[in-house]
Amino acid sequence: METAGVCSILSALILLMALALDATATTNFCSRALARKACPTPPTFDSIDIESYLGKWYGIGTTAIFRFRNEIGAVCAQANYSIAGGSTAGQGLNISLINSDLRVIGPSSSLGVSLISGVASQVCSSARKTCSLVAVDSQLQNAADQLTKVAGTIQSRHFFAKVAGTIQSRHFKEASVLNTTAHQILTTLSDIQSGLDFLARTITEIQTVNSHLSQANGSTASSVVRLRELVRKATAELSSLEVVVINLTIAPPQDLQLMVNSLLNDGDTTSVSQIFQASFWIDEGKVAVLSNLEFIRLSLDGLVNNVPFLFSLDQITNNPAPSHLSYVRGNAIQNISSAAKLEVIIDGFSGPYWILDLVGQAKDGYAASLVYGCTENERDNITENLFIISRTSKLSQDIINQLMQVAENNGINTDCDDPFLYTVQLGGDCGNPPVTA
Ligand SMILES: *[C@@H]1O[C@H](CO)[C@@H](O)[C@H](O)[C@H]1NC(C)=O
Ligand SMILES: *[C@@H]1O[C@H](CO)[C@@H](O)[C@H](O)[C@H]1NC(C)=O
Ligand SMILES: *[C@@H]1O[C@H](CO)[C@@H](O)[C@H](O)[C@H]1NC(C)=O
Ligand SMILES: *[C@@H]1O[C@H](CO)[C@@H](O)[C@H](O)[C@H]1NC(C)=O
Ligand SMILES: *[C@@H]1O[C@H](CO)[C@@H](O)[C@H](O)[C@H]1NC(C)=O
Ligand SMILES: *[C@@H]1O[C@H](CO)[C@@H](O)[C@H](O)[C@H]1NC(C)=O
Ligand SMILES: *[C@@H]1O[C@H](CO)[C@@H](O)[C@H](O)[C@H]1NC(C)=O
Repeated sequence: METAGVCSILSALILLMALALDATATTNFCSRALARKACPTPPTFDSIDIESYLGKWYGIGTTAIFRFRNEIGAVCAQANYSIAGGSTAGQGLNISLINSDLRVIGPSSSLGVSLISGVASQVCSSARKTCSLVAVDSQLQNAADQLTKVAGTIQSRHFFAKVAGTIQSRHFKEASVLNTTAHQILTTLSDIQSGLDFLARTITEIQTVNSHLSQANGSTASSVVRLRELVRKATAELSSLEVVVINLTIAPPQDLQLMVNSLLNDGDTTSVSQIFQASFWIDEGKVAVLSNLEFIRLSLDGLVNNVPFLFSLDQITNNPAPSHLSYVRGNAIQNISSAAKLEVIIDGFSGPYWILDLVGQAKDGYAASLVYGCTENERDNITENLFIISRTSKLSQDIINQLMQVAENNGINTDCDDPFLYTVQLGGDCGNPPVTA
């Protein structure tokens, strides 16, 4: 008994310490979500010796959007860079590349992975939109600010009266109710942000399990069980959020009625109309938040109802694609004025390949590299890719953390729509990718 008590106090302390560290070390999901409107322009590692960068690299991990768009069912991602025939003196280097991997899951499992990834990013994007509904410049925050302002006006506009021996505003009570309401709304908005932060973490875990399914890492059955657990967890988090949202409401209706009557008796139609306006904003904002949460709930329901069976179908139909090699060829053209910025061209499509950080010495061909690319599609919509590649098929967690810290310091998103996912490497030749470009 004694020991158990000490243990639980200790673990509670450790948990508290972890929470405190976490809170200071990172911002929350909503503040990151709102900061993300244009591609960041992180500094690149321009002192790179590009020739030392050539040769073979192993994929250590990629962010989810890239992974589930290009590498479903793939393990053993490798790249081989060499000097292209078309290199011209006085230009940045023209590099030939071969990206290869080994596909290890069947077609219906691949469909399952693709559906899970689609739902996860949809849910995450709805959570982001919900952040903007409860943010600093949102209609809901404006409503709370307006109520505080009206309270101030009411206090100063109306004649003072003697109440129980002290001089007070005739509408002191009304002003105070409005103040309390404004405060409750602001508290609720901040509670919603915390709730969204928890939800975002659970969605990230769903993406990680999906990455295990995609790479046949561990048993499919146990990953599917884990997926169901995580969806249940996310659904419970949604329910708590819905309970919090109920508090987005103006003072109890009967108080509001009394307040309005009393102000109208004094002819203060301005305050009354401002209160009604705030009340309208609050109702509208609340409906919008609830409808986002409902959309998230339906998406998650669909995920557990329709997707898991896909993972057993390949065995049932005896259609497991035997492991097969997959590869693409392309070029990477180095920017003449910024040595660590390359433009990768594959099948006529091009995208930025920026080397943000290198571990190890040029003379040893470097040990690991942090690669980033970002493109702006539309207003407020960017697509980012982040990769870590290494000269060896395994890279120490310390180095991975160090590189991810560089990414985080540069404001690169690895939240629930695009978390960083590790790549399974089996060692050896792992499917023997072709040697020549
Ligand atoms: C780069 O080299 C490839 C051949 O590998 C060639 O087709 C391409 O035109 C070259 N690109 C540039 C920009 O030099
Ligand atoms: C309402 O809040 C304002 C500012 O927060 C404060 O100055 C004022 O005294 C409050 N009024 C009442 C009646 O609580
Ligand atoms: C709603 O607001 C009341 C009054 O401020 C508070 O006591 C209660 O805990 C809130 N409920 C939730 C779910 O946050
Ligand atoms: C090369 O990099 C410089 C500096 O970042 C940039 O201004 C320029 O547009 C880049 N050139 C190309 C062709 O991308
Ligand atoms: C972002 O843009 C891409 C391409 O234009 C589009 O497919 C995607 O749906 C957009 N996402 C959002 C959240 O607007
Ligand atoms: C494979 O699964 C194990 C167990 O869940 C996990 O610890 C490991 O990180 C996974 N590997 C990759 C590359 O995702
Ligand atoms: C990488 O490509 C070059 C050029 O095609 C080739 O000579 C080399 O053997 C390849 N390296 C590996 C490890 O496949």
